[in-house]
Amino acid sequence: MSHVSVLLKETIDYLNVKEEGIYLDATCGRGGHTEAIVKQLTTGKVIVFDLDIVAIEEAKKRLTPYLDKLIFINDNYATLKEHCEKQNISQLDGFVFDLGVSSPQFDDPSRGFSYRYDSNLDMRMDQSQTFSAYHLVNEYPLNQLTNVLRDYGEEPFAYPIAKKIVAARLLAPITTTGQLVEIIKSALPSRILHQKGHPAKQTFQAIRIEVNQELASVEKAVSDACALLKVGCRGCVITFHSLEDRIVKEIFKQLSTPPKTNRRLPQQIIDVQYQLIIKKPLTPSEEELIENPRSHSAKLRVIERKRG
Ligand SMILES: C[S@@+](CC[C@H](N)C(=O)[O-])C[C@H]1O[C@@H](n2cnc3c(N)ncnc32)[C@H](O)[C@@H]1O
Repeated sequence: MSHVSVLLKETIDYLNVKEEGIYLDATCGRGGHTEAIVKQLTTGKVIVFDLDIVAIEEAKKRLTPYLDKLIFINDNYATLKEHCEKQNISQLDGFVFDLGVSSPQFDDPSRGFSYRYDSNLDMRMDQSQTFSAYHLVNEYPLNQLTNVLRDYGEEPFAYPIAKKIVAARLLAPITTTGQLVEIIKSALPSRILHQKGHPAKQTFQAIRIEVNQELASVEKAVSDACALLKVGCRGCVITFHSLEDRIVKEIFKQLSTPPKTNRRLPQQIIDVQYQLIIKKPLTPSEEELIENPRSHSAKLRVIERKRG
């Protein structure tokens, strides 16, 4: 199973890779972005994270010629600050986050990420974690379930879907993605069922975000990575849905906006530490969308550190 890296050329161009630089790829996946960075290095290194051990193992196979320049960490990118310290990395020459789920994760029915296959309710990126979609669907109280579907799926029918889930699990535990899809459909009006797009998409997205605590990790990790950037160096973040994009946009905005209280100070004092390299996020070209329809919701944001 392969993964087509999204906005690869654009991201790497923005990074301005230096052959002796130290880079972070927070989301290894199948190593597409890592490969494009590492092959430009001589004495440089890439520290590469993924929660999913399968992703790390597969990327290691692909990147065999470069293993001496790679430091693989099978952990949440939220821990990047601690791991960089352990590796004596105090500054980064650039970083990439390519958020979300990889195609091999979606396309492996046993991982339970997709509403297209009938499989166990799972959706864990880290398979050593005990809490899975099964626990969420069968154990969360009605109000908590409703909040997850509304907040993380932006699902307008969050309450009716949550109510149907709670009613169904009183009869027997909900164990498969197929059962969940049927329950979701039973809660939706027929006009919604006949609309474009899968009726379970938003609910599945919400459950995945909650199971993997995605948004809290993104917020911490992107902030920590920005703090590690060297002056003159850049960070690139690719998002796939509005919730994570909003978080990245907000972090970048705060870092690149002068504090209000400093408006009257001389220019050199209010000079901001960071600058947005593209004002509006970059989206995939027509060609990329045709070659890789999964890139359709991708947005790339780029920030540069201007001073220490
Ligand atoms: C879209 S894929 C990255 C694809 C990669 N850029 C490529 O070109 O092959 C996202 C990856 O991030 C990983 N991931 C998601 N959340 C994570 C987290 N909190 N910490 C570490 N890795 C995470 C997923 O397991 C997945 O492999």
